[in-house]
Amino acid sequence: MTNDATQTNWPFLRGRQPVIERAEGMYLYTDDGRTLLDAAGGAIVANIGWGNARVADQVARTTRDCTYVVPPWITPSRAALVRALETHWLPPGLRRIHVTSGGSDAIESAMKLAIQYQAARGEPGRQQIISRSVSYHGTTVATTAVSGHTARKRGLAHVLQPHPTIATPYPLRCPLGRHHPDATRFYLDNLRETIETEGPGTIAALLAEPISGSSGGAIVPPDDYWPGVRRICDEYGILLILDEVMTGFGRTGRAFAFQHWDITPDILVSGKGLAGGYAPIGGVFASEAVGRTLADARMNVMFHTFGAHPAACAAAAEVLNIMAEQRLVERAAEKGARLKAELERVFTGHRHVAEVRGRGLLLAIEVVADTATLEPFPESANITNRIVGAALERGVFFYGGGTGEIRDIVCMGPAFVIDDSELVRLAAVLREAVDTATGLSGSS
Ligand SMILES: Cc1ncc(COP(=O)(O)O)c(C=O)c1O
Repeated sequence: MTNDATQTNWPFLRGRQPVIERAEGMYLYTDDGRTLLDAAGGAIVANIGWGNARVADQVARTTRDCTYVVPPWITPSRAALVRALETHWLPPGLRRIHVTSGGSDAIESAMKLAIQYQAARGEPGRQQIISRSVSYHGTTVATTAVSGHTARKRGLAHVLQPHPTIATPYPLRCPLGRHHPDATRFYLDNLRETIETEGPGTIAALLAEPISGSSGGAIVPPDDYWPGVRRICDEYGILLILDEVMTGFGRTGRAFAFQHWDITPDILVSGKGLAGGYAPIGGVFASEAVGRTLADARMNVMFHTFGAHPAACAAAAEVLNIMAEQRLVERAAEKGARLKAELERVFTGHRHVAEVRGRGLLLAIEVVADTATLEPFPESANITNRIVGAALERGVFFYGGGTGEIRDIVCMGPAFVIDDSELVRLAAVLREAVDTATGLSGSS
């Protein structure tokens, strides 16, 4: 394997990526006999670990008994998923459920719902979605437009719908100063000014990740940020859509990341961890007020052909039940705290690691040329890919992140079943890989 192994490839299967023959628990097994510790949980989707027979059996049974049924009809696996969601996961205020086939279409459905809701209330002028400067919300044209991700917009900027953008709360790089005590006021003022400049009557919703995913690398806002955002949205009649495609279903040590604060969104969006990587699926969970307003106006949510696919619902229901039975969210909180402490230990005083951050098992490091000025390495140095490549050569797979100026981010999102020896190894390998890629030790 070379550094190229970390690059995405197109056309499909024409690159030099590893060939994975089997996956089990925390590990991936390659065709050339190597075992890789999966510190990324795939694309940060794994929660119960790979190869669970209970989930595989449910998927097989559902495929045999009830292969495909049009999305709005009821099947045993769809009923099981709704039961699991309502019993263990969704707060009572977010039970208008819509099931999609992935994260991007779930985000796009949420954007449509917000615009339809405002139209149903007699405010068709509220058409804009505010989003944030560093963010990622999906691959469709509409979700690419609202993403703050320069690399993924390359060659598209001229066709993407303009939208109001506010600054992502980023304590390390707050313009007032690093972890400045007035950071929240700065970011909330920015939100209020943006709403006033655009005109509140033009804004349908604010769309944001409660804790940033890979674009910013597990950036956690100051504690009083989210309650402040919620108040401002309410004041201006703006819906709050939280993108928990990466953070949802236990990843940050709570069922949903918004539960680290005393707030509830109007629309919650999920994907990835909903079925733990066993099937493609996403979910949109709206408040009763949103649901009833749309229903009264006879506005519907359109399904994709493969939305709520029976096999995907079977996988999700079983994964959600297993996580509840085995108390894996609590485990994500506990192992996440240990992993963060271990990363802080191995990177204390490191010349190129500006910060270890995140919550639960969504963690990241930010790598810079100079920790005093936070100046990044030049893009041409390709630092993130080199770190990920050096770690792969040492048998651990990390998830590269970052965009624009914040380009060198390495994310971690292992399954919640990770044990203490694995997390110690993960941190040690990451240190070696960073040193190798930044030239602090011999090349790989
Ligand atoms: C925060 C966030 N939102 C949306 C998406 C898009 O989801 P999908 O790739 O399943 O379409 C992603 C995917 O990485 C994500 O991390």
